[in-house]
Amino acid sequence: MQTLSRNELAQLFDNTFQGAPDLIVRSPGRINIIGEHTDYNNGYVLPAAISQAVYIAIRRRTDNAVHLYSADYGQMIKADISELAPTGTWADYILGVADQFQGAGHTSPGFELVMTGNIPMGAGLSSSAAIECAVAFGLNELLDAGLDRLRLVKMAQAAEHTFAGVRCGIMDMFASMFGKKDHAILLDCRSLDYQYVPLLMDGYNLVLFNSNVKHSLAFSEYNVRRQECEQGVAIMQSQYPSFHDLRDVTPQILADFTGRMPENVFKRCSYVLGENARLLAACDDLKKGDLAALGSKLNDTHVGLSQSYQVSCPELDFLADVARTHPAVQGARMVGGGFGGCTINLIKDGFLGEVIETVTGAYQQKMNKSADVYQVITADGTSLL
Ligand code: GLA
Repeated sequence: MQTLSRNELAQLFDNTFQGAPDLIVRSPGRINIIGEHTDYNNGYVLPAAISQAVYIAIRRRTDNAVHLYSADYGQMIKADISELAPTGTWADYILGVADQFQGAGHTSPGFELVMTGNIPMGAGLSSSAAIECAVAFGLNELLDAGLDRLRLVKMAQAAEHTFAGVRCGIMDMFASMFGKKDHAILLDCRSLDYQYVPLLMDGYNLVLFNSNVKHSLAFSEYNVRRQECEQGVAIMQSQYPSFHDLRDVTPQILADFTGRMPENVFKRCSYVLGENARLLAACDDLKKGDLAALGSKLNDTHVGLSQSYQVSCPELDFLADVARTHPAVQGARMVGGGFGGCTINLIKDGFLGEVIETVTGAYQQKMNKSADVYQVITADGTSLL
């Protein structure tokens, strides 16, 4: 599906609820150049918003009813604004945010909302964060709540924790809300300081291969990884009480704890330490335009995610490995939470067709599945349409 226009959204709203919406919001998905599973460890991330987005059209009601229509699921879900609770459906990303507004004292009447979008779901491109950010932005306007973007990001993240049950970090919502075309965002997830880093891709392209699988482990193992990292910090805190996060730990200190924490916890910690360091070095690569150096860091990240953090899967490993067999591929790695979704690939100009054919052909043959291909186009963050 192509980018939707205001008129198309208004038409969709009219067909569903009759009449015009009060406002229409677009909120993008994201990629992450490097810095995976570092956000909830209060480390660094380097995401960028992409052209694929979620669109919502919304209108206030005078009663407490909430009517939500997903054009992509072809499904209507109804709720009451004074009794919001998770439903186990796509509607939770919307209801969870409405619940955050209620909790913050921005009591609203009910509303009608139509949603559509073109972010592939379960692909690690943060379709759920995009919905949450679109709704947070929309309700903020609709209720004239006067909240700033950072506050909206935090409400969207809290909605994911409470209604979707995933203790995610802040990266996805931050990227969707604060994205800037042609830039990545270097975000310090502890201080929440950020800067825009120009994505100077001279001679290179970023391409995603969607494995089209999402293993059921994704949500449960995500929360387990978070716990394992917390456990690692707690163990080291017994000797170093000033440590708050893994970024406070040096590789030497972690090495001293070899055999003094469960092996899996040690592996998770060593990956996170390495990833934070890689990300900072990768920002220098980007500033210098040294994309070959950046690419080899992407490869190292994949190895870390697969072997030490153990959030990859055979399909993602295969996609990354087979891509790297082509000399024009400078780097390839899984992106997002893991256990399925996409790989991100840094590919030299002039070889896109060849690489795509090699990777999709081999994937079909080996896994008996087709891989979708998306060329990354960066975009601005959440906005009114
Ligand atoms: C998911 C989470 C993010 C982040 C990534 C991994 O996308 O929602 O907060 O932890 O996984 O980097």
